[in-house]
Amino acid sequence: MTGRRAPYLREMGLVQWRYISPIRVNQAGNSVTKVTAERRGRQDAPSALSTLADDVAECERCDLCRTRNQTVFGAGSARARWLFVGEAPGAEEDKQGLPFVGRAGILLSAMLFSIGLSREDIYIANVLKCRPPNNRDPLGREVRECSPFLHQQISWVQPEIIVAMGRFAAQALLETDQSLAELRGHCHKYQINELPLVVTYHPAYLLRSPSAKRKSWEDLTLAHSILD
Ligand code: URA
Repeated sequence: MTGRRAPYLREMGLVQWRYISPIRVNQAGNSVTKVTAERRGRQDAPSALSTLADDVAECERCDLCRTRNQTVFGAGSARARWLFVGEAPGAEEDKQGLPFVGRAGILLSAMLFSIGLSREDIYIANVLKCRPPNNRDPLGREVRECSPFLHQQISWVQPEIIVAMGRFAAQALLETDQSLAELRGHCHKYQINELPLVVTYHPAYLLRSPSAKRKSWEDLTLAHSILD
């Protein structure tokens, strides 16, 4: 394995890979981005997201507001074609106010690079905007109170595909209680505007179970082929 991508693919546990097709994302500039009727009016997205971030920063809808250092709204391009969704901020995210900046974030960057994307090409957000104490699982009522923010983020970014990372993101976005195993490997429709949605493992799970990295790469390749 040679080339600039090799260390990232190795990090993903991939010893052999085949580049499938050029990625039509922002890397080469706007000329490669498909402009569709649905994407009209997106000039307002950055300011709308910033207003929403201000609302989130003041949110007291659940008890997590008492234990957070700060809210973690989301990051990335407000005009991204890809929108990735995680579960909830961890300790490092709570400290920095940004999603996926800890160890899981480093692996996420490697996952992205393995399919020709960078963090600048995507928008990333979590189901919960506040860190659950001791990184415990999100509670049902926290997901119910917080997920409207996520739905608004999605409607402002208007991505062309959503990647749900882990069970909580997948179940919240698809409003299902199916398991991750049942949800992986298919192209779902995001319930609000029928965007394609692909489910994959959470990077934190991949850190604990590196043998699943290949399956995760397959999920991202599926998402890529749907977008193409
Ligand atoms: N795990 C998540 O689900 N989100 C983050 O932002 C960091 C770790």
